[in-house]
Amino acid sequence: MRTVYVNGKYVPESEGVVSVFDRGFTMSDSVYEVTGVVAGKMLDFDAHMARLQRSMGELGMPRGPSPEELRKIHLKMIELNKLDEGLVYLQITRGVQDRNFELPAADTPLTIVLFTQARSVLESPQAERGIKVISLPDLRWHRSDIKTTQLLYACLAKDAAKKRGCEDAWLVRDGLVTEGSANNAFIVTGDGLVITRDLSTELLPGITRKRIVDLAASHGYRLEQRGFSIAEAKSAIEAFITSATQFVMPVVEIDAARIGDGKPGKFALALRKLYIEDTLARSGVTGARG
Ligand code: PDD
Repeated sequence: MRTVYVNGKYVPESEGVVSVFDRGFTMSDSVYEVTGVVAGKMLDFDAHMARLQRSMGELGMPRGPSPEELRKIHLKMIELNKLDEGLVYLQITRGVQDRNFELPAADTPLTIVLFTQARSVLESPQAERGIKVISLPDLRWHRSDIKTTQLLYACLAKDAAKKRGCEDAWLVRDGLVTEGSANNAFIVTGDGLVITRDLSTELLPGITRKRIVDLAASHGYRLEQRGFSIAEAKSAIEAFITSATQFVMPVVEIDAARIGDGKPGKFALALRKLYIEDTLARSGVTGARG
């Protein structure tokens, strides 16, 4: 049985409970982060904590624990759960309050929950095959840059994709792709230009996205941050998504149209390899595979 963290206590998951009046439960008044773990080491932890602080700031949530305190809790969770590979999930809600649309008093204690999920992230049969995506209208609110737990539309989008024999959905607003259901979207044009949507309130500033943008720049790739349509994506030679748990995942079909030759492309695979090597080295994982 896993050990979970709830408000200062490390307890068996069967005993990890929060109030029915928790605002995370009644109002989705809560933010989260997902940090990848390889060989017991966290990947890009500082960047995840910086984004968490930003999310909380944008929602006017009271100050939570410092990134250093959160690091200690994360490391303890990895140790207690003997987590070698997978992820640590962190959620912070605005606390417990009788259901009310008014925000609670600023001194209401935040609810802080962590759990781990063991899963293989490095070796991915899916990355060898690539995934198929559908496009759907982006019906989320206009602050998708804040990592809140309002994830119902993402779940429905993934379900719609599954029902059409695909793995994921790309969301489209005003004719342009914002991002994937829980990842950032990239395409590569015939002349080798890598394109991903520029940051705004419409999409999450992915930690992996940023790393790919930086790695592309330092390794001589041409990259542009701008919107692109599904039609442009379909005429691309490659497509891929990025996230903390999928790293760089090739996309081989969009709305039943084959991308390139329908196999993971060389840009996606090269960037995946670069990302893994660089991230593992930065995170102190030795004997990096990829
Ligand atoms: N999702 N866009 C959305 C809407 C996301 O939910 C995520 C992450 C990303 C990629 O961000 P990052 O590279 O920082 O993981 C983009 C996480 C993995 C999740 O909800 O499980």
